Amino acid sequence: MGGLPERHPAVGTRFFDDMADALYRYGYAIVEDALPAGLVDSLFIHFKELGVDEFRQAGISKHHDYHVNGFVRSDAIAWLDHGSAASSDYLGWMDRLRLELNRRLFLGLFDFECHYAWYPERAFYRKHYDGFRGSTARIISSVLYLNPAWVPEDGGELVLYSPRNEQVVLEKIAPRYGKLVLFLSREFPHEVLPVNKPRYSIAGWYRVNQSRPGAVDPSA
Ligand code: OGA
Ligand code: MN
Repeated sequence: MGGLPERHPAVGTRFFDDMADALYRYGYAIVEDALPAGLVDSLFIHFKELGVDEFRQAGISKHHDYHVNGFVRSDAIAWLDHGSAASSDYLGWMDRLRLELNRRLFLGLFDFECHYAWYPERAFYRKHYDGFRGSTARIISSVLYLNPAWVPEDGGELVLYSPRNEQVVLEKIAPRYGKLVLFLSREFPHEVLPVNKPRYSIAGWYRVNQSRPGAVDPSA
């Protein structure tokens, strides 16, 4: 797990206990300043340095029936890899979190994938569930927010709806800088409200391995 950032004071056993506990009890966790501040700053810098060419209009599905659907979502995305120190450190940190959650919740999370998401003014993402059609690989969704000095007038809150009644709002989450949100991918309908100012985040998913005889992790 090369490139892990220095130990963050908040990252003790207790920190992971609390996060696992929230996921177990409520199905989601909202954590302010979860990551080392230096890592959040370097991700934000890396994000801003990426050229427009590195982003593409987000579709609804990565593999099947890929199409751009501006009615459902209007963000632009760029997948993270180990090509920069910042993105590599984030993947390393999220992998550490994967192991800590597996240890506590026996989830068998197998890997993590994530992309930068850039919502230009007026962009949104209508109510949806994560996970691709016909695939159950995505187990936990994550979002790290990178919006310095966010104020309510900026909009773009993440709204989590009740798994039992998708009209009932559970949480309206301000996309504040350094906040990490985790939730069970298939349980919670959620949406991103229209933004009044460009909005920056990293959306990611912990997945289980779906390998079967003759099909090595087909959703990868
Ligand atoms: C997603 C998503 C939420 C957010 O990318 O699937 O729901 O707050 N993102 O950015
Ligand atoms: Mn989503």
